[in-house]
Amino acid sequence: MMAQAPWAVDVLVEATMPARVPTAKTVPLATGPDPARLLTWYDRHQRVLPWRARPGEQPDPYRVWLAEIMLQQTTVVTVGPYYARFLARWPTVEALAAAPLDDVLGGWAGLGYYARARNLHRCAQAVVTKHGGRFPDTEEGLLALPGIGRYTAAAVAAIAFGRWAVVVDGNVERVMARLFSIASPLPRAKPEFYAAAERLTPDQRAGDYAQAVMDLGATICTPRSPKCLLCPWNDACAAHDAGDTERYPVKTPKAERPTRRGVAFVLMKDDAVWLRRRPEDGLLGGMLEAPSTPWRDKAWTPASARAHVPANAQWKALPGIVEHGFTHFAIEFTVWVAQAKSRQKVADKNGAWCRIADFGRLALPTMTRKVLDAVLAVQPAKQPARERARPRIMAK
Ligand code: ADE
Repeated sequence: MMAQAPWAVDVLVEATMPARVPTAKTVPLATGPDPARLLTWYDRHQRVLPWRARPGEQPDPYRVWLAEIMLQQTTVVTVGPYYARFLARWPTVEALAAAPLDDVLGGWAGLGYYARARNLHRCAQAVVTKHGGRFPDTEEGLLALPGIGRYTAAAVAAIAFGRWAVVVDGNVERVMARLFSIASPLPRAKPEFYAAAERLTPDQRAGDYAQAVMDLGATICTPRSPKCLLCPWNDACAAHDAGDTERYPVKTPKAERPTRRGVAFVLMKDDAVWLRRRPEDGLLGGMLEAPSTPWRDKAWTPASARAHVPANAQWKALPGIVEHGFTHFAIEFTVWVAQAKSRQKVADKNGAWCRIADFGRLALPTMTRKVLDAVLAVQPAKQPARERARPRIMAK
């Protein structure tokens, strides 16, 4: 039998695998850790995560995309139950696209960054209407969809479709910073981190490789006390060599977060609370909240807050404050509570009576939950006096 030409296998692989497209930025491969060593480690030690295809299974782009959107700025542990509930309720992109936005926001409540939930829904609709229910299988195609940025496009292209793509998240940044002792501060030095990640991303198994670096960052190359003895790349790590792993990654110090203050008004009627919907655009867009004073730096006196109550009633201030942190500021609420009279009208077309028993299904962000929990802890809801007196539920 004739011996096979040494290039024959490569030709076959090239023909069946998506090609690595060299970019102008491609850095020549210099010394550095061996990606193959990391992949071998991953094959033995990868975390079992619900969005990952098991060996021999084809990844489902819908599941991969859903997980990657949820995992932005949120931990794997937090995402787990949300992901399971979403998939059980909306098992396909068609099902998610057909769901009312309010249901999606309700399912998302507690994960934060609610613009992501709106874009998730818009993206599902775009995949159905513009792409026949199939996600585009290239980074460019994915980038054109709502809510998909550079990271998500690369992650979905690599993990779901086996494309060569450079995936850089916080874990990858930490690993690259230590391997190459990159001391330039983030976020300004992002291009340097991308160049390092690009240099290491192998032609084959780019999706596994991306997840391997993430797992390495999450389990071994952790922010504090990294377990360098267990690291498959420890012999090629500049920071380990110099004994200063915890110095990396270097970050530009954040500006101090200002604190804003408000008074939240919780008006109760039997087994319901008056809540209003926030404007669609902006912070917590379209989510529900207790009416409140404007939020400002200066504390509110009872007299100044009274001008903003949503209804005339016997308002009582709860002791203490409720705190919540957003990315750019913190909010401190004093909470006032009152019982509405049975026929009391509230002059606010953006609000409605919401039954406490329905809270689990409503789009209640964590900020609102904290305010309501503070009230319900000291003042459990009364049952309705008569069935007829039941308040209207927030329209779904
Ligand atoms: N964080 C973001 N995406 C991830 C993934 N696919 N696996 C593990 N951690 C992740």
